[in-house]
Amino acid sequence: PSIGVVVVAAGSGTRLGRATPKAFVEVAGRSILSWAMDSVRGISEPIELVVVVPAALVEAARSQLASLGLPFAAVAGGTTRQQSVQAGLSVLGDGVDVVLVHDAARPFTPVEVFERVIAAVRSTGSGVIPGQPVIDTIKGVDRSGLVLETVDRSRLTAVQTPQGFPRAQLAEAYERAVEDVTDDAALVQQLGGSVSVVAGDPLSFKITTPHDLEHAEELAARTAG
Ligand code: CTP
Ligand code: MG
Repeated sequence: PSIGVVVVAAGSGTRLGRATPKAFVEVAGRSILSWAMDSVRGISEPIELVVVVPAALVEAARSQLASLGLPFAAVAGGTTRQQSVQAGLSVLGDGVDVVLVHDAARPFTPVEVFERVIAAVRSTGSGVIPGQPVIDTIKGVDRSGLVLETVDRSRLTAVQTPQGFPRAQLAEAYERAVEDVTDDAALVQQLGGSVSVVAGDPLSFKITTPHDLEHAEELAARTAG
């Protein structure tokens, strides 16, 4: 059996505000998508890799990633992340028994996080997501900005990717999915599947805003230098 790794990179990056779709924006001379492959290639178990990119950039992704020496399939995504994940899942081969879904927008995720998620999916036989403690104090507010409550931080975890699932569990969740949700674990839970959290990593931060891109440039400079 092998691990299916679906890297979703088909978003436009509205909040980043560049003309180029986010995964194709460069950090220190390489696309975010290309950086994201560094940890994927370190996974010790056999993997089947699918990258999901904007339809117009499928060929560009193929040529850009060809030099990495890592076999992969590139397919076109959809208008929502959920549709993009589904496009990736649909091309996985029969030998895949565990699936990881990862955001290309988290290009510096350490390989240890991938390994931790894989191990926990195997030991629990259910969904596993990496999470980080919430650092800020979180308040619940109403529409006018009036503070209603202080949320108990110890009950919260900030969720990252890769999110891992037994293949059958994720496939069923996607087959029966109704609502459009932003993460795969929520779909699995809608069907009553259990999902547990393992330690994430600060390096798994998502590049969302121009400030995040600056942070990425600093990290990349350190990695290269
Ligand atoms: N994603 C995708 N297909 C979509 C939307 C998002 O594959 N239709 C991917 C993005 O490429 C990214 C990940 O899902 O790797 C997380 O999404 P997000 O950070 O929100 O990226 P964008 O949707 O591109 O950014 P924005 O929401 O600012 O437009
Ligand atoms: Mg988005």
